Amino acid sequence: MSLTLINKACPETAIILGSGLSGVVDAFGVEAEVAFAKVPGLSASTVPGHVGRFVLVKVSEKPVLIAQGRRHLYEGLSAFEVTASIRFMHDLGIRRVVLTNAAGAIKDSMEVGELMLISDHLNLQGTTPLLGSAQFHDMSEVYSAGWRQRFHQAAQDLQLPLHEGVYAALLGPQYETPAEIRMLRTLGADAVGMSTVPEAIQARALGMEVAGISMLTNWAAGLKPQILDHAEVVSVGRQASLGLAALLKTAL
Ligand code: HPA
Repeated sequence: MSLTLINKACPETAIILGSGLSGVVDAFGVEAEVAFAKVPGLSASTVPGHVGRFVLVKVSEKPVLIAQGRRHLYEGLSAFEVTASIRFMHDLGIRRVVLTNAAGAIKDSMEVGELMLISDHLNLQGTTPLLGSAQFHDMSEVYSAGWRQRFHQAAQDLQLPLHEGVYAALLGPQYETPAEIRMLRTLGADAVGMSTVPEAIQARALGMEVAGISMLTNWAAGLKPQILDHAEVVSVGRQASLGLAALLKTAL
């Protein structure tokens, strides 16, 4: 029933919400919802903080599909499997997707609770959803420059700090060691996480426009005297969801 409603609404834009960011949906009116498990090729998330459903919302009168949660490689799935939601969106006719995540901050000028627009990524996950396909897609502008400009304008209008930088994706599920974070900094990473990159690659391979936003939920390992904890990551994400919701509303 809800899948039919979503199909009928013909959304052109989608958003994927990462760890602790599901509450962003509360800023929009939900018109329909469907559990991941009801979508062929998708199944429920096993990660605390990930709801595991699609909801249809309206942003400025336009329908937008939001995935509350995502699947990860560290759950033991292949890169092809974790990107089923992107192919589902593409099949629905969606051509633009905003990928959000929780990430550890590496760059000195950042603060926990702030947002970073992803300018580019380092795929350090050792796999890709295109594996086995011999598809040699160009990846020189994964994250749309035009869309980034729009997000910066929206952040300025809202007087919301918005960093821009390189997101490094690691396999996880363990957090990084301090030595790994020093390596990532040397490689040019500004934030680190365990998601988003397979989805971005799949979406670009399908010709979709991609934006990426990291919620900086913690300092990356070894940068501050702290112990990394998933519950803390989810909690910071929840508290900072309002700013992200406002940014999405304004930019879309
Ligand atoms: N490392 C990897 N993934 C993350 C982090 C981190 O510090 N914070 C949130 N997701």
